[in-house]
Amino acid sequence: MGYQKVKGTQDFIGLDAQKMRLIQDKMANVARCYGFEEIVTPIMENTEVFVKSVGETTDVVTKEMYTFLDKGGRSITLRPEGTAAIARSYLENKMYGEAGIKKLYYVGPMFRYERQQAGRYRQFNQFGVEVYGKAGPMLDADLIAFGYYLCKSLGIKNITLKINSIGDSSSRNNYSKALKEYFGGCIDTFCEDCKKRINANPLRILDCKVDAGREEILNAPKLSSFLNQESIDYFNEVKKYLDNLGIDYVVDENLVRGLDYYTDTVFECIINSDDELNGLAVVGGGRYANMLYDMGKVDVPGIGFAIGLERVKLLMEKEGLFDNLDNSTEVFLMGLDEESKVVTLNLANKLREKGIKAELDYASMSMKSQFKTAERLNAKYIAIIGEEERLNNKVNLKNTLTKEQITISQDDLIKYIK
Ligand code: HAM
Repeated sequence: MGYQKVKGTQDFIGLDAQKMRLIQDKMANVARCYGFEEIVTPIMENTEVFVKSVGETTDVVTKEMYTFLDKGGRSITLRPEGTAAIARSYLENKMYGEAGIKKLYYVGPMFRYERQQAGRYRQFNQFGVEVYGKAGPMLDADLIAFGYYLCKSLGIKNITLKINSIGDSSSRNNYSKALKEYFGGCIDTFCEDCKKRINANPLRILDCKVDAGREEILNAPKLSSFLNQESIDYFNEVKKYLDNLGIDYVVDENLVRGLDYYTDTVFECIINSDDELNGLAVVGGGRYANMLYDMGKVDVPGIGFAIGLERVKLLMEKEGLFDNLDNSTEVFLMGLDEESKVVTLNLANKLREKGIKAELDYASMSMKSQFKTAERLNAKYIAIIGEEERLNNKVNLKNTLTKEQITISQDDLIKYIK
């Protein structure tokens, strides 16, 4: 067997690549309407960028990062997510010195050594947004609505928006203590990771992929009972603005997210489907009040979300949303002898210069084989040039849909097609 791609990665060829490009272009257009500007950061970062911010006890940091020493002995990590990397850039480039809030969007590959399954890859692409600056619950609602709208604007229907508040750090510390006590009696029956999590970070037991769905997890104390008044008021405001925007959402008290940096508002758009994608998140995000302070002593809160482009593509394929993608060739130019081929090459290039998709057969003189090629390329028009047409500066043009066939001058071809 020859070379094979790395497990959990994908090749996107032709139409598949076109679909991915279309998704990100559409998202970028929507993001610009929401006032976001693009940021492009390196795919690799110094490992410490992710460890503390994403959380030393999270699955991402403990099991999933692609980390290696470079030739200079530095620990480098292929980014598993964008938020910490964008925060690093925000701090390093002192963007906090600019007036007002900063709205950034990014798109690109992320890397996580995860168990391979439907919709879960080791290299996947995210479209993400981050907002930095002191703004209250109205921003949270606007951003949640934006994430939800991104999916809707692509035509995706079968998703549920779930929101929750995980409160501030002091509420969560109290909650952690309660969980430690609650799980203490039954932790022996949990997976090896959860046995470690109970002391390091009991909250992570709630989003364990191995023990997911267990009664003990479903019946665990709810974080909402530990929120302080400030967090409760904040969350109520977020909900009020979402109601005002007419956004359909469900409050899910079990939604805690798998990354440690969040505070208060968190949200996900969950896939509803009759296959293995059911229950997976397509959008995930939330507020993080302390990350920039912890990373660079800059007291600016952030909020953001990311969408998995592969999951969006799978959903759109399932819902038939790419069916109108037009990949056909506008004009196929057919030369029936050596000299006519040269004419077809010239005409093809003139058409292309005018933005018309034109293709030709470089080798064959046979009409039969060239008709086959035109059919394979789904050509709308076939322009045939044989000796007679060439000598008279003409082209015989066939409309493959109506079967109508006319002879026009070569100079009129572009005008006619346009
Ligand atoms: P996340 O929930 O880890 O959040 O990922 C966001 C989205 O990326 C998921 O909802 C999913 O669509 C996609 N995704 C994640 N892992 C995979 C995978 N292995 N294969 C395919 N798709 C995947 C974050 O990454 C946060 N940085 C989001 C954020 C931005 N929070 C605040 N700002």
